[in-house]
Amino acid sequence: MVLMTENNKKNIILVGGAGYIGTVLIEYFLEKNLRVTVIDNLLYSNKFAIKKYIKNKNFKFYKADMRDKNSYKNILKKGYAVVLLAGLVGDPITKKYKTLSKSINSLGVRRFIETCYKLKNINRLIFVSTCSNYGLSNKKNILLNENSKLNPLSIYAKQKVEIEKFLINLKKNKFFSPCILRFATAFGLSPRMRFDLTVNHFTKSFIEKETLEVYDPNTWRPYCHVKDFARLIHKVIICEKKLINYQIFNAGNNKNNFTKKGILKKVQKILPRNNVIFKKKDVDRRNYRVDFAKVKKLLKFTTKYSLEYGINEIFKSYKNKNFKRIKYQLGNYTVKNARK
Ligand SMILES: NC(=O)c1ccc[n+]([C@@H]2O[C@H](COP(=O)([O-])OP(=O)(O)OC[C@H]3O[C@@H](n4cnc5c(N)ncnc54)[C@H](O)[C@@H]3O)[C@@H](O)[C@H]2O)c1
Repeated sequence: MVLMTENNKKNIILVGGAGYIGTVLIEYFLEKNLRVTVIDNLLYSNKFAIKKYIKNKNFKFYKADMRDKNSYKNILKKGYAVVLLAGLVGDPITKKYKTLSKSINSLGVRRFIETCYKLKNINRLIFVSTCSNYGLSNKKNILLNENSKLNPLSIYAKQKVEIEKFLINLKKNKFFSPCILRFATAFGLSPRMRFDLTVNHFTKSFIEKETLEVYDPNTWRPYCHVKDFARLIHKVIICEKKLINYQIFNAGNNKNNFTKKGILKKVQKILPRNNVIFKKKDVDRRNYRVDFAKVKKLLKFTTKYSLEYGINEIFKSYKNKNFKRIKYQLGNYTVKNARK
């Protein structure tokens, strides 16, 4: 048996690690006794979200932009695995900042991958993509799998698809093992909360007794708790290379495909309220149900945290007044610190 010492602890580099998903990964990996390095340019002044880890001896933070190779190249040389989370995330923000989105989500990510490709120490490169790539599916009752035709509707999803293609077409070299995870829509508590995500948004609206406007209530989408994403990424890092090398996986669970109305029912069961207005024809036309059989079969991954768990933890945190301390922003983000 090889004992884990300070020196041989695997160093996981989270690019964009100060965000909603990244900060949950930090917690998870530190608990697993791994070393965690975060590279993030703190686009939303979100340093508060990583403050509690700063003094941990297994944690390092570098405020750097993924587009500045010189600022991160030496950091990458000490990494075992890289999880690529950084970017402008979601349809509204990529539409609002089109030039910046191209610069980060398209050119920046591409160049960053090229740098990783040339290094010999990166055993895993995990590119976090999205099920939004499936866009709009007209085939009712059909679950879309990794081989289904992609139909990205937004700038955000189009740029994810572009990077997926670029990555998967890189010529194989023995040092480079990329894996693409198409994440379902996330939910659950995080040090950097996002209340623009459906489950979190509905829960917060009900807690705060706001009137909730629900657009296109019968449209389907898959959901997954942030802590389940952490469990999956950990699996990808520690599993045999042949299982994940140049593979694409949908990340989630078949039982978590829901319509917005379905989500609403779950929230209403825990927070019985009825201040909801249904509306039709939002600008967001996404409607898809996803098949997660591949990740279950090959990586033996199945989710552990239900929607009820996520709704309850947000509710409890609110009751305990934790939200007074957790700073959060709504969906219409303003980018504060980015160079163009
Ligand atoms: N949240 C979801 O529901 C969801 C679903 C599918 C896929 N994803 C993917 O997961 C990843 C993380 O999403 P999130 O919800 O945590 O978003 P987030 O906005 O909370 O986090 C993104 C982080 O990236 C950082 N960042 C942005 N540009 C950067 C740059 N140029 N250099 C360094 N850091 C930069 C930001 O400061 C932020 O901390 C994204 O790639 C997203 O596309 C998220």
